[in-house]
Order: sequence, then structure tokens, then C-alpha cells
Amino acid sequence: MPSKPPIASHSHALPSYLDPQHLGPWGIYLQQVDRVTPYLGSLARWVETLKRPKRALIVDVPIEMDDGTIAHFEGYRVQHNTSRGPGKGGVRFHQDVTLSEVMALSAWMSIKNAAVNVPYGGAKGGIRVDPKKLSRSELERLTRRYTSEIGIIIGPTKDIPAPDVNTNGQVMAWMMDTYSMNVGETSTGVVTGKPVDLGGSLGRIEATGRGVFTVGVEAAKHTGMPIEGARVAVQGFGNVGGTAGRLFAEAGAKVVAVQDHTGSIHNDAGLDVPALLAHVQETGGVAGFAGADQMQDAEFWSVPCDILIPAALEGQITAENAGRIQAKLVIEGANGPTTPEADDILHDNGVLVLPDVISNAGGVTVSYFEWVQDFTSFFWTEDEINDRLVRIMQNAFAGIWQVAQDNGVSLRTATFIVACKRILHAREMRGLYP
Ligand SMILES: NC(=O)c1ccc[n+]([C@@H]2O[C@H](COP(=O)([O-])OP(=O)(O)OC[C@H]3O[C@@H](n4cnc5c(N)ncnc54)[C@H](O)[C@@H]3O)[C@@H](O)[C@H]2O)c1
Repeated sequence: MPSKPPIASHSHALPSYLDPQHLGPWGIYLQQVDRVTPYLGSLARWVETLKRPKRALIVDVPIEMDDGTIAHFEGYRVQHNTSRGPGKGGVRFHQDVTLSEVMALSAWMSIKNAAVNVPYGGAKGGIRVDPKKLSRSELERLTRRYTSEIGIIIGPTKDIPAPDVNTNGQVMAWMMDTYSMNVGETSTGVVTGKPVDLGGSLGRIEATGRGVFTVGVEAAKHTGMPIEGARVAVQGFGNVGGTAGRLFAEAGAKVVAVQDHTGSIHNDAGLDVPALLAHVQETGGVAGFAGADQMQDAEFWSVPCDILIPAALEGQITAENAGRIQAKLVIEGANGPTTPEADDILHDNGVLVLPDVISNAGGVTVSYFEWVQDFTSFFWTEDEINDRLVRIMQNAFAGIWQVAQDNGVSLRTATFIVACKRILHAREMRGLYP
């Protein structure tokens, strides 16, 4: 039988709805897939599957504003891959949301879910809106209309949204209620990150920070770095950074520097983390905290420390500041905090980077627990949840560490190898329909 021509020769390299000159975050993701392809063996035959989303829905979200005018917002839901299970990923409300960004975030969810081996594909959603400019009732109308518009593709066994930037438990409660009203039954399992009284899970709020801490401890063990006395710098002291900072401090590390949107603070002897968390709760940020020196934001990156945790925004560690970083270990709490150029600089300087696709997977892992609890309507204790979370993160990290050692690659590439093989193996076994 003549051998079939490679499928790629019949395919367009890029979908026509993307501008090849401005690929945005999707371009970074494509580079990451290209980097891993040589390690996929015979599964590389299926790699095109990863380079295009399975489904991308763009919706118009019209709402009546409080002043009586009608506003239209652009909404998205992208299901990147569902070979391993239903789509899973957050919903972001931000004025800069684009299709390229949602596509990249949905693809990183496919990788993350496969890396920790939870039975999901990857998805993500968003609305191009600055929610801080909306009243509470406008935000509720926006959320409900968006949920109805994407209702044709989401569902507890189809695609399960969760909170992301600028969305929270209240937004998830409105999404759950809207979906339930539309299908005519209470459907708690359609979203995760819900309030505990509405089928949410204990431990969910802290889960991402706990996962960051867990992989950090595992990496420290492998590299012979004692946590006791280790100096930690944290960018972003919200849900992820605040929890990770607290857990490191409780384990005997010294949190010596913290930066957030209000400023940067420093104390070489170690900050009083519970007092700092209370200060942030009260004032909205770290600036003005007694018991610390204020410092220039640019100085934060060169602060002497052993562990650096970027837990704020994308694109924070760049070619400009990467060379000044003194930490031996960088744990990515945020999604996409390190640019590819900065990644190479850190690697050349011998800094070990624990990539977002494994480090911040604790959140989706406990989202998975929430979904399982919703199906059975039987809820676990916080200790059970934390124990299971730590076990999953430790096992995932051990597997990825071994792949990195075996192939002489970075932990980011190793995570992509493990995850892409799982996704493409599932694809191969399922086969193509029809
Ligand atoms: N919450 C989760 O479960 C979860 C899961 C996976 C990934 N993440 C990622 O982690 C990151 C942080 O999420 P979060 O839930 O902790 O958000 P959050 O809103 O609770 O906290 C964000 C923190 O970043 C700080 N920040 C904002 N702008 C800044 C700036 N310009 N410079 C320095 N600091 C700045 C804020 O002051 C705040 O301390 C995001 O990238 C998010 O996508 C979160």
C-alpha cells in the first residue's frame, strides 16, 4: 500500500482568523509545541491536533446598562482539546482579552490538566470588559447573558468553567444559576470555584498557593536546598502569592521581599507574614506595612533571595530583568510570567524554573475534587482534600523531574513532553471520527 502523504501538507499552518504577524500568546504556545515535538516519537504524527483549537465560540454579549443605554461586549469560549475528557478552564473578565489570548490559555489548560493527570481537556473563556467600570447589577447581567450565549457548548460533562482574573465565587454562583435555569434543574457541576454553600469545595481558595508550595518543597529536596531559613521573594500577594508566602513562612523560610500593585517592601530578617496578610486585607496592598523598608519596584528583581515566586501577572520576568535575578529557584504561580527570552537567560544562569503548567495546577486539581464532590453530592473534609492535592502534585512533579533528567531538558519542556504524550495517546486510541 502506498504510504499516505503527511497530513500537514493538506493543512493550513495557521487558521485564517489569526494574523500571522500578530499571533500574541498563541505564538508563544506554538513555539512550545514545536520545541517538544522531537520528543514525541510516533505520537508526533498527531501533533497538528495541538496546534489548533477544537472549537472556538465568539459571542456578542449585549446588556442594558444602569443608565438605560445598551452596551455590547465581545465574549469567547475556546475548547482547545477534549481528547482526555470535558473542557476545563477559567473565565477572565478583562479589557485586554483577545481570541489569541483565550486560545493560548485554553491550550495551557490542556497541558496543565494532562500534566497532573486529571481527566479533563483544556478550555478557557473571557469577556473583553473592564469589570471595575460596571455596577454589581451590570456585572450580574453581563455574566448571565454570557453564560446563556456559551450555554450551547458548556455543561458538567462538556466543559466546566471556573474563576480566573477578575471573576470569583459570586460570578460562578451566577453562572451556575443561569445554566441551571436554562436546563431546568440544579446543575452545580457546571462550574467550579463556587462558594462552599453552593457545592463549592473546602480548600479551593488556598489550593493554587498550596500547590506552588508543594512543588517548591519537592524541587528544594532534589536540589539540596533547605526550606528552613531559605529567603523567599514573592510578586503578587493575593490568593496565590499570599497563600504560598504564608506556607513557606510556616515551614521556616523567611519571606524577605514582596511586591504588589501598590509597591515593593523588603526586610532581610523576614517579614511577619500573618501581619502582612492582615495589612493587605485592611488596606488593599503591601505599601505602608510597618516592619519593612519600602523599595523601588525595579530593585525587587535583584533582591538577594533563594526562591522567587512570580504570582501576579503575565510577562513579568523579561530579558531586561532576568539577568539580575539572584534566586536559585523560580516557582511560577502566575500564568505565563516568564517570556521565552527570559527563560533562556535564567537557564543559562543556572536558575531552576518550575513552570506554571505544573506549579499552579493545584487550583484545577481541587476544582476537579469539587466537580467529583458535586456529582456524588458527598463532601470531603479539608484535610482529605489537602492530602489528596499534595499527593497528586508530588507524583506529577516526580514524573516530570525524571523526564527532565532522562532527556536533559528544562522542566517546562519535560512537562510539555509528559502532557502532550498523554493527550496525543488518548487521541490516537480514540481515533478520528468518522
Ligand atoms: N487563583 C487561582 O486559583 C489561580 C490558578 C492558576 C493560576 N493563577 C494565576 O495566578 C496569578 C495571580 O492570581 P490570584 O488569584 O492570586 O490573583 P489576585 O487578584 O488574588 O492577586 C493578584 C496579585 O497581583 C498583584 N499585582 C497586580 N498587578 C501588579 C503589578 N503590576 N505589579 C505587581 N503586582 C501586581 C496584586 O496587587 C495582587 O497582590 C494570575 O496570573 C492567575 O492567572 C491563579
